[in-house]
Amino acid sequence: MGTPEVRRKDLKMINGYPMVYAFALNWERMEEFQGRPDDIVISTFPKSGTTWISEIVDMVLNDGDTEKCKRDVITTKIPMLELYEPEHNISGIEFLKTTPSPRVIKTHLPTDLLPKSLWENKCKMIYMARNAKDVTVSYYHFDLMNNLHPVPCTWEEYVLKFLDGNVPYGSWFNHVKTWWEKKKDHPLLFLYYEDLKQNPKEEIKKVASFLGKTLDEKTLDKIIHHTSFEMMKDNPMVNYTHLPSSMMDHSKSPFMRKGTIGDWKNYFTVAQNEIFDAVYEKEMSGTTLKFCTEIQSCCCKFLSDY
Ligand code: A3P
Repeated sequence: MGTPEVRRKDLKMINGYPMVYAFALNWERMEEFQGRPDDIVISTFPKSGTTWISEIVDMVLNDGDTEKCKRDVITTKIPMLELYEPEHNISGIEFLKTTPSPRVIKTHLPTDLLPKSLWENKCKMIYMARNAKDVTVSYYHFDLMNNLHPVPCTWEEYVLKFLDGNVPYGSWFNHVKTWWEKKKDHPLLFLYYEDLKQNPKEEIKKVASFLGKTLDEKTLDKIIHHTSFEMMKDNPMVNYTHLPSSMMDHSKSPFMRKGTIGDWKNYFTVAQNEIFDAVYEKEMSGTTLKFCTEIQSCCCKFLSDY
């Protein structure tokens, strides 16, 4: 049998969640995956700053040593658990098998698709959340450049698909709410993109403390500089330009696109915003989880300590 065609295929359902077609192949591998007690899991809904927090975690674990952090590309240093691309024989699980402990594992999986052994082993987990409107804009642009995603649609159609949870990994609402709940009974650090953007030092200190590290001011400043959007955008080890263009086509939209809070205002029409707000209010009622969608009046900082 030849290599299955995985580019621009429709999403495939896995236990009720729409999944990137390629990742859904041989799903048994995910159920069989064995976590180790010292694994560190970085989880996010896609486009919430996964790459950013990943590079921060690597810098924290390496005491701010930029040379050590340039030892390999981000996808090898911090493999993505569910990644599978048969054409180039790229598999997150295969990478992880040969990764020495302590491994840092990236995933976008919702809580109930995450391999059980990672919960059972009480692995430390860092969840980074970003406001839904900026995620929608970022995810729309990602669809344009990521050939493992279905055929892109118009922005108008995309907003409705996002609200319906008809995007890879399903509903943003379900994702953030269920991961937030996990905080209650699992070692999980819940961070916000918006907090990290506005107060990187405080947030990086939280990461360090969660990982059992104490970093001096100079090291913290070095980490902030190395992981700023401007630096990461031009760093070929983290900006995803190393992947084959058959997977990601940066000429359609760069992976490191804008890295700001509130870009949604450049895309949402008044009508789209009203529809979005109505669904948001319904979906988020009954949760203590709060987000900010603009730079001023940011409320999530206070809630992230909840
Ligand atoms: P935009 O498309 O809004 O620019 P992920 O890594 O989860 O796929 O998220 C990608 C988003 O995070 C993109 O958002 C990208 O630009 C942004 N990003 C990546 N590195 C960043 C950094 N150092 N600071 C701020 N945003 C960053």
